[in-house]
Amino acid sequence: MLTFKRALIAAAFFLTMLYLVTRTHSSTTVPSKYEANEDSRQSPQNDQTKTGYTPTNPVSTSSSNRMPPARPKKPQSQRLLQDMSRASLPDKLAYQFPYDVESKFPAYIWQTWKYTPASGDFGENFRPAEASWSEKHPGFIHEVITDQVAVHLLRHLYTSVPEVLEAYNSLPLAVLKADFFRYLILLARGGIYSDIDTNALRSAAEWLPEAVPRNAIGLVIGIEADPDRLDWAEWYSRRIQFCQWTIQSKPGHPVLREIVANITIETLKKKNNGSLKSFKDKNVIEFTGPAVWTDTIFDYMNDERYFDMSTGKGNITWRDFTGMTAAKKVGDVVVLPITSFSPGVQQMGAGDYDDPMAFVKHEFEGTWKPESERHIGGSG
Ligand SMILES: *[C@@H]1O[C@H](CO)[C@@H](O)[C@H](O)[C@H]1NC(C)=O
Ligand SMILES: *[C@@H]1O[C@H](CO)[C@@H](O)[C@H](O)[C@H]1NC(C)=O
Ligand SMILES: *[C@@H]1O[C@H](CO)[C@@H](O)[C@H](O)[C@H]1NC(C)=O
Repeated sequence: MLTFKRALIAAAFFLTMLYLVTRTHSSTTVPSKYEANEDSRQSPQNDQTKTGYTPTNPVSTSSSNRMPPARPKKPQSQRLLQDMSRASLPDKLAYQFPYDVESKFPAYIWQTWKYTPASGDFGENFRPAEASWSEKHPGFIHEVITDQVAVHLLRHLYTSVPEVLEAYNSLPLAVLKADFFRYLILLARGGIYSDIDTNALRSAAEWLPEAVPRNAIGLVIGIEADPDRLDWAEWYSRRIQFCQWTIQSKPGHPVLREIVANITIETLKKKNNGSLKSFKDKNVIEFTGPAVWTDTIFDYMNDERYFDMSTGKGNITWRDFTGMTAAKKVGDVVVLPITSFSPGVQQMGAGDYDDPMAFVKHEFEGTWKPESERHIGGSG
């Protein structure tokens, strides 16, 4: 029976969808007061061109061929004629979500939770955190997406890449879907993703050092863990672990494309061999969490399709980011020091919440994350 209340909820739902789907992007560029350490060893191959990346034509490379990558072309009009049906998944995603490093960071804030803020079940402890994002970002579109809305939103955004939808819908745990959702929404729309239990301490307009031009950056990430101790592997899966509770990106960024392709392919492999249903919580870190996120970022920084690897300085590794106290630019990625997204943890060199470089405060509770993914407690 279609009651008035249900009709009203349905109408509100469709209006929300329409709103999310038709919004145009607005801009965010306000300078900040921090200095950057530019990593001069590597910069995107095509910095000198006006086109930025055109990831629709990735150059195929092999280890025996160390020729510089081809100049990006601008095949806007020809793109429509390409038959994408036999393209690789990353190529399909690049075609669907082109990356333009010179575009503005979209003024979106995306969060996911079981309930909308309008619901009585939202959770009183999350309200101040949720409100802090709106307060610090006037003019931004701030959406808390429920699982139900996520399904419809993703169906709209990824219609032409059905294997991605199949993978999302097949994931057996909420934590896996929540992880995957952040990469999917940022790839398609860009903006800021932040976990629901994370407070904004400073506006994203202050995150990037003043010296860094906004039109040269497409991804802003923070450090979750930098355990400078011999037994680090007992506590963390990687020596440097990038965090994925807060990420800022422009749509189509290659790191997002690669991680979406990775998770899609791995999910469908597991689905096909029957191992997906019995998937265990403790493996989330490697499958969708900070381990695969960290690996994907390092792979990108060492990928000769995007970076000039001929400088002879070797690969970018955790050593380039350990002990950092200021933001560091590597190509079109800015890595913030541990204080920025993990202040107040009282270890690994992180400053406190009142540190001028402390940008968000992550609560590490009430999330869907497994225990092993959280920080070492006080005494370690
Ligand atoms: C199923 O495939 C996944 C991904 O390739 C692999 O890690 C896993 O070991 C496989 N499991 C079985 C039972 O074959
Ligand atoms: C996904 O990334 C992991 C590294 O975290 C890697 O071992 C795996 O081979 C990747 N899978 C695909 C399909 O690219
Ligand atoms: C650099 O990384 C690439 C790709 O991950 C790897 O094949 C190569 O062996 C690495 N080179 C060095 C010097 O570690």
